Amino acid sequence: MSKTPTFKTILFTALSITITACTNSTKTSQTIPIGIAFAQTSNVALLGQEGSNGAKIAEKYFNDQGGINGTPIKLIFQDTGGEEQGAINAFQTLINKDKVVGIIGPTLSQQGFSAHPVADRAKVPVVAASNTAKGIPEIGDYVARVSSPASIVAPNSVKAALKQNPNIKKVAVFYAQNDAFNKIETEIFQKTVKDLGLEVVTVQKFQTTDTDFQSQATNGINAKPDLIIVSGLAADGGNLVRQLRELGYKGLIIGGNGLNSSNVLKVCKASCDGLIIAQAYSPQHPGKINKAFRDMYFQQYKVEPPQFSAQAFTAVQVYVEALNELDKKTKISTLQLPKIREDLNKQMLAGKYDTPIGEISFTPIGEIVQKDFYVAQIKMEKDGSAGKFEFIK
Ligand code: ALA
Repeated sequence: MSKTPTFKTILFTALSITITACTNSTKTSQTIPIGIAFAQTSNVALLGQEGSNGAKIAEKYFNDQGGINGTPIKLIFQDTGGEEQGAINAFQTLINKDKVVGIIGPTLSQQGFSAHPVADRAKVPVVAASNTAKGIPEIGDYVARVSSPASIVAPNSVKAALKQNPNIKKVAVFYAQNDAFNKIETEIFQKTVKDLGLEVVTVQKFQTTDTDFQSQATNGINAKPDLIIVSGLAADGGNLVRQLRELGYKGLIIGGNGLNSSNVLKVCKASCDGLIIAQAYSPQHPGKINKAFRDMYFQQYKVEPPQFSAQAFTAVQVYVEALNELDKKTKISTLQLPKIREDLNKQMLAGKYDTPIGEISFTPIGEIVQKDFYVAQIKMEKDGSAGKFEFIK
């Protein structure tokens, strides 16, 4: 039986959130729509799927707690695919057809640089939950994020690698040159390497659509690095790691945020073993809400929640708590949709949130302020059939 509360006295005349109304003979139920624009198809779905999984857990968790002062939220999913146009289309549908109060997404910063301006112009709040490139919150007043930027997250993995092997001197860097986030992340990695007194011995470029990395991998290995750093996405990055190992590279490898998915294990299999990836979330993070999230996630998907899931949960939480605050001041069911979107945006930026990724807040332009960061290392079964992220910091 549905747990959806019923509302008989809502002011439908003033209410212009398309409060998805479903009526039967005895009751009227309504929900507050929040848009989810993640990649559900293409190679980018390797990351987008984890975002969707985390958001779904949040929908159930917060509705079980009473939603927005008794009104449930309803997540509306629009697939962005892996390209910019798909993200723009998903945003437009969520804004104009689904009439959401706000949007979470898209999966890639590369897509965000095209889609966020659409929401910003329409004055619809967006909380990005996996965009980690520099410049995302700066896109506009209506764009915020709960995914800490690469400049804060990425350097932690280099320090962890050095701790494991203090003899590292020479570093080979690989990056996907057709992806906005990876171009920025590699700059951060290269700066970190130099700041730590190490030498970048070669920089190799590839495309996120590539599957064959023989020439770049061979060039990289020939430079005799003690450490390799890969900035790519899960499919290409995973394949590159595998080919580096097949060609005989034995040193440490760091993967960037685009490889931070349990789906990468299916791509590089046994060759993923030892891969170091910085994290903006740990399943072991203390606190009641993370425990609840972790338990629900494990029960549903039989794995520990990965970072992109925790960030998506957090984005839903930000909307729910801000909507609750707003509703306490003025019943949102009495407001027009443009006003809800405008007030929600202000309320979100003003709040402090105790989330699975720790205590967070926002700077005035919508950049996340987060305290806790971690580093994980992938541990694979010998036969490559299964593996997990072990937290080393
Ligand atoms: N963190 C990656 C990006 O921003 C997924 O594109």
